[in-house]
Amino acid sequence: MAKNVGILAMEIYFPPTCVQQEALEAHDGVSKGKYTIGLGQDCLAFCTEVEDVISMSLTVVTSLLEKYGIDPKQIGRMEVGSETVIDKSKSIKTFLMQIFEKYGNTDIEGVDSTNACYGGTAALFNCVNWVESSSWDGRYGLVVCTDSAVYAEGPARPTGGAAAIALLIGPDAPIAFESKVRGSHMAHAYDFYKPNLASEYPVVDGKLSQTCYLMALDSCYRQLCKKYEKMEGKQFSLSDAEYFVFHSPYNKLVQKSFARLVFNDALRNASSIDEAAKEKLAAFSSLSSDESYSNRDLEKVSQQVAKPLYDAKVQPTTLLPKQVGNMYTASLYAAFASLIHNKHSTLGGKRVVLFSYGSGLTSTMFSLHLRDGTHPFSLANIATVMDVGRKLKSRHEFTPEKFVETMKLMEHRYGANDFVTSKDISLLSLGTYYLTEVDTMYRRSYGKKDGQNGSKCENGVVANGH
Ligand SMILES: CC(C)(COP(=O)(O)OP(=O)(O)OC[C@H]1O[C@@H](n2cnc3c(N)ncnc32)[C@H](O)[C@@H]1OP(=O)(O)O)[C@@H](O)C(=O)NCCC(=O)NCCS
Repeated sequence: MAKNVGILAMEIYFPPTCVQQEALEAHDGVSKGKYTIGLGQDCLAFCTEVEDVISMSLTVVTSLLEKYGIDPKQIGRMEVGSETVIDKSKSIKTFLMQIFEKYGNTDIEGVDSTNACYGGTAALFNCVNWVESSSWDGRYGLVVCTDSAVYAEGPARPTGGAAAIALLIGPDAPIAFESKVRGSHMAHAYDFYKPNLASEYPVVDGKLSQTCYLMALDSCYRQLCKKYEKMEGKQFSLSDAEYFVFHSPYNKLVQKSFARLVFNDALRNASSIDEAAKEKLAAFSSLSSDESYSNRDLEKVSQQVAKPLYDAKVQPTTLLPKQVGNMYTASLYAAFASLIHNKHSTLGGKRVVLFSYGSGLTSTMFSLHLRDGTHPFSLANIATVMDVGRKLKSRHEFTPEKFVETMKLMEHRYGANDFVTSKDISLLSLGTYYLTEVDTMYRRSYGKKDGQNGSKCENGVVANGH
């Protein structure tokens, strides 16, 4: 069996168009601080009419292959995670095949996985399992998480965002799976779902989704601890991982989640929590678990107690989710990308625990073991390729009015046919794919912004598949 299977390389793409949360607060007439402090968000990225989940994934996959020098013939499996439905039958993966067909590689297994924000994790597990299995043919796996998170006007709208992430999977990875240190919790809930197929917007019970998330977190943590303890013969606690990375619909939920893990460790009398903190949390030990999810005092005290540990173990993972917003399937991996961006030089030898949550609901907590790696598959090179700082700095801020106008146009275009886009790609950087047209038969065409002649339209055989 292949050893140290995991993530060899990563690339991230998010739209260059964004709106500041502070400006949105003023525009929406809510109290100052509601989105920035209350939700913990700084900025929100969104697709304009020339971008969508397919163009973003074409961009991110092409960029990953180019920047790490990967021969497209060396990809043997490709799995996409997404909850942004553009077609109820044709997978996003098949659009991405255009990149590989050009090189004569059509021998690539895998399709799309969907369950809210968990699809990317399902795709990742599929690829890792493939490399570890007897069906593996020695080539790389490729995972793509791509989503545009948009909400109807109202309290959930500021928790939108958009991005695509590509992860190259193989053996001897600098980011290796500790496949046995893992706990899942899957159940039926109506916390966030998309039953209206004519609309891109979800139906969301925000408060319920928060409780479901925290219940799933507790359950996954319990499972992971149980499995670790059985395997290692000792208790697992927050001290056993250097960093904790959370799926991040909005940062406040991440703060509450980590505080919840601290509360769990206090109840388990784990060594990660000092005596003074245990004493403060002991007052809540008699609450039933149901009561504990709605107890405001517990929320406040546990967040206070958790603050120093949060700053050390979670804060370095929060940059992109705060700056880009919820990226659904890409959100957890964008948080992980933030950690690599901030800490790549000190991550070698460290364990990082990730929590993936998809409403409906599906969730897994799993563990990664990091090593420095060797070029091009090194943590340092992954940070260089992702170039997160430059990508954030070169964005274009829209006014809230322009953002709302864009949302209206996108609403109108969702599920529509027989239109051409403005093809205004002035804000996109070189190498970015963009939507040019959806014809009468709903076939989508894409172009690529090209260095030499401004833009290159890949209509015809290559880009629309017919
Ligand atoms: C999260 C959500 C429910 C919040 O909407 P809301 O009900 O209007 O917001 P609230 O009134 O609860 O305010 C949010 C927070 O901001 C705080 N707040 C409000 N105004 C504030 C201000 N001026 N300054 C600082 N904080 C403020 C509130 O106290 C609350 O904090 P708390 O969560 O610690 O209680 C909504 O944005 C939503 O539904 N988002 C989508 C949910 C989602 O992504 N679900 C999927 C999960 S995987």
